[in-house]
Amino acid sequence: MAGDAIRLDGKVAVITGGAGGIGFATARLMTARGARVVLADIAVERARELAATLPGAIALPLDLGDEASIEQLIESTVAHFDRLDVLHNNAALLGPEIAQNDGDVERMATELWDRTYRVNVRGTMIACRSALPHLRASKGNVVNTVSNLALQGHLIQAAYASSKAAIIQLTRSIAASHGVYGVRCNAVAPGMTVTPALLEAFPPALRKAVEDETLRDQLGAPEDIAEAVAFLASDAARNITGQVLVSDGGCASHVPGIAGFRAFFSGDQA
Ligand SMILES: NC(=O)c1ccc[n+]([C@@H]2O[C@H](COP(=O)([O-])OP(=O)(O)OC[C@H]3O[C@@H](n4cnc5c(N)ncnc54)[C@H](O)[C@@H]3O)[C@@H](O)[C@H]2O)c1
Repeated sequence: MAGDAIRLDGKVAVITGGAGGIGFATARLMTARGARVVLADIAVERARELAATLPGAIALPLDLGDEASIEQLIESTVAHFDRLDVLHNNAALLGPEIAQNDGDVERMATELWDRTYRVNVRGTMIACRSALPHLRASKGNVVNTVSNLALQGHLIQAAYASSKAAIIQLTRSIAASHGVYGVRCNAVAPGMTVTPALLEAFPPALRKAVEDETLRDQLGAPEDIAEAVAFLASDAARNITGQVLVSDGGCASHVPGIAGFRAFFSGDQA
C-alpha cells in the first residue's frame, strides 16, 4: 500500500449534516486530502456558504426525515460528480429542545422517540440503501457517526443513545452483506466534542463532569472526530470494516468514577 493511502484524491464524499460543527471540520479535512465533498444539510443556506470556502465542494439540501429528499441527494450527487466513493452519515436530530426533552424512558414522549428514530435510524438506513449501488461501483465505503452514549448507559438521552446503538448494528449488517462487493462500513463514536451546538445544549457543569472523566486534559474538538472519519474513509483503512472507532479522549475506556479516584489520590497520583 502506498504511503499516501490516507489521502482521498479522486474520491467524492457526501457528508450529511455538513453545515454542522463536526460535519464541516470533516469536509475541510477531506478536501485538504484531495476529496470533492457534498455538504448535505437541512440548513442549506449555511451549507452553501461553507461549501463556497472549499475547492470542489457543493451544497445540497437534505431532510434526513424525508425519504424522497435523501434519495434526491444521492441522485444529484452522482449526476454532478458521476461517482460516489464515501457516504458519511453525520447528521442527527440534535439541538437544545431535543437535549432538554430526551431524558429517561419513564418520561419519554412517544413523539420525540419516533422523531429521533425517523431521522437517525430510518434516515441513515435510507441514505445507505440509496448509496450502496454507487458504492459497489466505486468499491467505496460508509462511515456512520454514532456516539459513546450508544455504548454505555446514562441518565439522559435514552432515545438518542438507543438510536445510535441501532446505527452500530446497521453498520455491522452492511459490512457483512456488502464486504463481498468491496464495500466497507464503519462507525465513529465521538465522546463529548466541543461544537457551538454542544455549548448551547450542555451547561458548563455537565461539560465539566465529562471533562473530569476524560483521560486527556481537555474534551475533543471537531477536528479530532474528522481525523477518525477521514482515516476510515481512506484506503489506509482498507482492512477495517464493521468496526466502531471511539474518539472520546478515553472517557469510555475506564471503570466508572475515575474523577473521584483522582480526587482521593490528589497530590499523590492525580
Ligand atoms: N458534539 C458532540 O459532543 C457529539 C458527541 C457524540 C456524537 N455526536 C454526533 O456527531 C454528529 C455531528 O454532531 P455535531 O456536534 O457536529 O452537531 P451540529 O448540530 O453542529 O451538526 C448537525 C448538523 O446536522 C444538521 N441536521 C439536523 N437535522 C437534520 C436533518 N433532518 N436533515 C439534514 N441535516 C440535519 C444540522 O442542520 C447541523 O448542520 C451527530 O451525529 C452527533 O450525534 C456529537
